[in-house]
Amino acid sequence: MLKKLAASAVRPFDQAQPIPASVNHSREFLEREQQNIFMQEWICIGRDDEIPNHGDYLTHDISGVPILVVRQEDGDIRAFVNACAHRFACLMPKQKGSARRFTCRYHAWTYDCRGQLIRAPHMEMKLGFEPSQYHLRKLILEIWEGFIFVSLSEQPATCLSTVLEPLCEQVVGQFDMGCYRTVLRESMIWNANWKNLIENFTESYHVPMVHGKTFAQHNKPLEDYICGEDSDYYCYHRAAQPEESGPGAAHKNNTRLTGEWRRMMVDFCVFPSHLVTLMPDYLWYVSVQPIGTDQMHATWGVAVPPEVLDEMPSNIYQSWLDQLKSYMDAANTEDKELVEALFRGTQSPLLPPGTYHPLERNLWQFTRYLSRMCQ
Ligand code: FES
Ligand SMILES: [Fe+2]
Repeated sequence: MLKKLAASAVRPFDQAQPIPASVNHSREFLEREQQNIFMQEWICIGRDDEIPNHGDYLTHDISGVPILVVRQEDGDIRAFVNACAHRFACLMPKQKGSARRFTCRYHAWTYDCRGQLIRAPHMEMKLGFEPSQYHLRKLILEIWEGFIFVSLSEQPATCLSTVLEPLCEQVVGQFDMGCYRTVLRESMIWNANWKNLIENFTESYHVPMVHGKTFAQHNKPLEDYICGEDSDYYCYHRAAQPEESGPGAAHKNNTRLTGEWRRMMVDFCVFPSHLVTLMPDYLWYVSVQPIGTDQMHATWGVAVPPEVLDEMPSNIYQSWLDQLKSYMDAANTEDKELVEALFRGTQSPLLPPGTYHPLERNLWQFTRYLSRMCQ
């Protein structure tokens, strides 16, 4: 399977074929992905404006490792393994909250926001017990353009902001995603391999056929899409909307974007699993995790630039948000059926060779990334 994957990755794009179907169904391959990718690489947990105040926290899961990220008193964010230092019970069960003290429900060991043990009931009964030796396990964290990324590696192979510099400087930096305000955080479980969603998100070839109720209404001709330069760390494609105003175009008070960028959509993936549709008037991100070969978990959210929210009368905010949520749910429903169909089809050991449309170059780039990481 690795040989097949490598052979598929070395072909030039115009002769490339889809990723070998079997890599979606092999438990051994999934284990390799967990070890070589999810235990090493930068994984997005959410957005930093979701936890603005001291003690605000988010929890997540990377490859079975429960994660806790907490806003510190000095404004930094720290990441920990969300497991108690006594006998490792999962510490904070909720997905989101605010606390200055984190108390384990099992034997009430209590930690501060820095992960230090500050209370361990009755442990004076144990001779020589030294509380300072017991603290939450720290993890490495980087904030990039408002997104919180965590690595489970003690020494990540890359500095995220350095490897994403070309993407930022040439393409997405001008949007200033860091100023977008998060308005939705949701999660979903689909019956497909995690890679099926990465592949689906990184091509817009399917948009006119699949997204009749949502994205296809922007009426962008496929001929207008441009696939970005090849990179080992990310891929993207982009297209400008025909309309200069309305949904998908920059708000009149947006002073960051100029020219056609005021109506530009950029779809990008920070490898392995951080997907973003970036528009002048909102962004939609999806962070994907495998649960098994046949199931994935995705956390997704929407963030909106300040000028859009600032001009919105407060009495319409809730109905606007409900509408936005329904729109995103509809787009997810449209994709889910096809992503799950992709998974089912690739179960067959008997398949023709397949091919790519020119707008599926990002999938070829992802295949090359996967092959490099898993060899
Ligand atoms: S496992 Fe947390 S206090 Fe015992
Ligand atoms: Fe889609």
